[in-house]
Amino acid sequence: MDVQRSAQAVRLCNGAREKTIQWINRDLIRIYEQKNSEELVRLNYEEEPVVLDQEPTEEGAAFRWEGYLLRADESLNISVYREGRPCFAEYPGDATVYSGHKEFSLAELEGHKRTQSPVDFKTQISVTLFDDTDKLYGLGDKAAALNRREYEYVSWNTDDPTAHNESYQSLYKSINYLLVNHHRDRYYGLFYPSSYRCVFNLGKYSRNFFYIGSEQGEYDYFLLLGQTPMDITRRYSALVGKPLFVPRKALGYHQSRWSYGRQDLDQIAQRFAELGLPLDYIHLDIDYMERYKVYTVDQEEFPSMKDTAQKLGEQGIDLITIIDPGVKVEQGYFVHDDLEKAGGFATLDGQSYVNQVWPGDAKYPNYFQSRTAGYITQITKDFMTENKVAGIWCDMNEPASFRGPLPANVEFPSDNAMHLHDETHNLYGDYMVRAVSQAFTQQNRRPLVITRAAFATSSPFTTTWNGDNQSLWHHLEASLPQVMTMNLCNFPVNGVDIGGFGGDTAKELLIRWIQANIFSPFLRNHTSLHTRSQEPYAFDQETTRLYKEALRVRYDFLPYLYDLLENAHRTGEPVQRPLFFEYPDDEQAKERNDQMMLGSSVMLCPILHQGQRSRVVYFPQGRWVNYFTGERYEGGKEYLISMPLDAMGLFLKEGAIIPMYRGLTHIDDEALDTLYLYVVDGRDGEYLHYEDDGRTLDYEKGVFNRYRISKTGNVLRLQTVSANFPTRYQHLVVVQGDKETALPFAGELIFRLEK
Ligand code: GLC
Repeated sequence: MDVQRSAQAVRLCNGAREKTIQWINRDLIRIYEQKNSEELVRLNYEEEPVVLDQEPTEEGAAFRWEGYLLRADESLNISVYREGRPCFAEYPGDATVYSGHKEFSLAELEGHKRTQSPVDFKTQISVTLFDDTDKLYGLGDKAAALNRREYEYVSWNTDDPTAHNESYQSLYKSINYLLVNHHRDRYYGLFYPSSYRCVFNLGKYSRNFFYIGSEQGEYDYFLLLGQTPMDITRRYSALVGKPLFVPRKALGYHQSRWSYGRQDLDQIAQRFAELGLPLDYIHLDIDYMERYKVYTVDQEEFPSMKDTAQKLGEQGIDLITIIDPGVKVEQGYFVHDDLEKAGGFATLDGQSYVNQVWPGDAKYPNYFQSRTAGYITQITKDFMTENKVAGIWCDMNEPASFRGPLPANVEFPSDNAMHLHDETHNLYGDYMVRAVSQAFTQQNRRPLVITRAAFATSSPFTTTWNGDNQSLWHHLEASLPQVMTMNLCNFPVNGVDIGGFGGDTAKELLIRWIQANIFSPFLRNHTSLHTRSQEPYAFDQETTRLYKEALRVRYDFLPYLYDLLENAHRTGEPVQRPLFFEYPDDEQAKERNDQMMLGSSVMLCPILHQGQRSRVVYFPQGRWVNYFTGERYEGGKEYLISMPLDAMGLFLKEGAIIPMYRGLTHIDDEALDTLYLYVVDGRDGEYLHYEDDGRTLDYEKGVFNRYRISKTGNVLRLQTVSANFPTRYQHLVVVQGDKETALPFAGELIFRLEK
């Protein structure tokens, strides 16, 4: 084998094949034959020094660095060992994939001849499954359990409104990232940086290996190493871009339906106020537009959107409007004419390409060209200012096309090169939200952009929802692993349509849905045209009461959620975490699809099945307290816990310090003058609390406060560790069980807790 070394890379050649291994830093390695183009897939990595020692071996090559060993065998198969134990290995056996494999075995038994031909991927990355307990997490929004082993998924953004289930191969997002667990405590991450269609066969084809297959992408992947899932996720987040820091108000409750009109808006605001239900945003779906023409407003329904928005704004409620990419083909319509004149649409055979979306015949803006992206930014800015709109909901950006898929050769040139649809498809939503989010950042506002389609690199620009679910119990059940997976894929501000989008919801389903999703950073009740109403008051008084109780929990926990979000933005650490993120060695924690951690101190264990009034809860190591009843539980055990319709399974870890607000019905900054510190007795601990203006980008210049709150024995201490923002806090209330003590707020405080 020929080994050519440069400072942090080696090129291996065995006569038949060549492979390069590049150490970007201790925990991030790129392995490739040929790199994928990085013109459109934008990644962030800079080499940091790694001291590599080449080891003598009898065959192949071996390199050692900081606790790791990488070996390449004579066939150039790579394997990595951590502290002497195997952690990752390319599959050294025969990984040829045959079409028709397995599916026809019954026919074969009947004596039919089975024809099999090898599938000819341009690239096939095959990775060893060491044993049957290896687990594969990741790939974003699929409607599946956390561990996606044995399924096959295809990265190809797809708008499909039929009922999603675990074997659905493609949904709206392409997030080519896997987090793999082998043995009790060995984890690694794998990212495939190609935007072309690719297949992730996660052990469905073979028990011995999983593979990524692509007809156009290159043999090129990033291997992410680390001790824990959290370490690996932080690395991954740095590579694809840290998640967006949304305005604080975005964490409030959103009410939506396809399609509210002007009168609905007044009625919703009034009903929510009368019932004391918290509400921060109402969404306007496609019917607010004039004949589905994006960036227009139907003047009959909304003679002055600005006045409507102003009136709602005075009641603490802001408007979010939907914008789709498809531009109606109509001479005289400004978006159409401006883009046509500027050559701003995707083209085929020298003409702007036309397919069909809501407005009928529509053209597709070419966001890959900076001039067109700049135009979209400008008209988004103008539209928001003119209509006093607070956020933009980007939909149908897979892109959807009602008259069949876009041909592979539709042209989406960038400023530098020609790119065709087969390369840009999975990035279309990504480039749309880059353009739209600029409309906010150019005004020193944090973006409030919500998207359905996304690529791995979209998270710095947008929040996401998981598309058209249905009012089905199994979609409620799927919502937990969906949001946890989006979180571990670096998309913390994610949620599903509460109550379900398609079909009619039912009282019990709606109650359980809001209880189960109460900590989703993006919290929106949304439903389709012609379905039964599902606002919190659409059923009976009991539904309204329980819905409101759930929303109360959400609004009370807001500062904790906001702290987690700020942390996610800085580090990439998930907000809604699978249990194994906190307990990576605990086998019991690895496939808990129906429990999740919010940060390190809060565990939500909702009811997800019709008629169920109790459930088994697994408590990881430590001691736990029921937030509602104060009951205590020992970790490392399962308990059967009663959860009637009014109970939601919320548990706090001993020693937890949780900052809270009380009684908010809108996230109105003026009202944030009292900080509650909810303290659970038990272990000593420390907590960092963050405060800023909640809406601008000034925090990037250091305009924020950070407080360290520590608990040692019965001494609770608050210290200000950075203070560059004029605090809104005037009072501090320490809450221990039923006992509350109010103090004037000060940057340094010492308080004696009750024994
Ligand atoms: C798509 C969206 C849905 C929206 C509808 C109409 O189906 O996913 O949320 O209501 O289009 O715009």
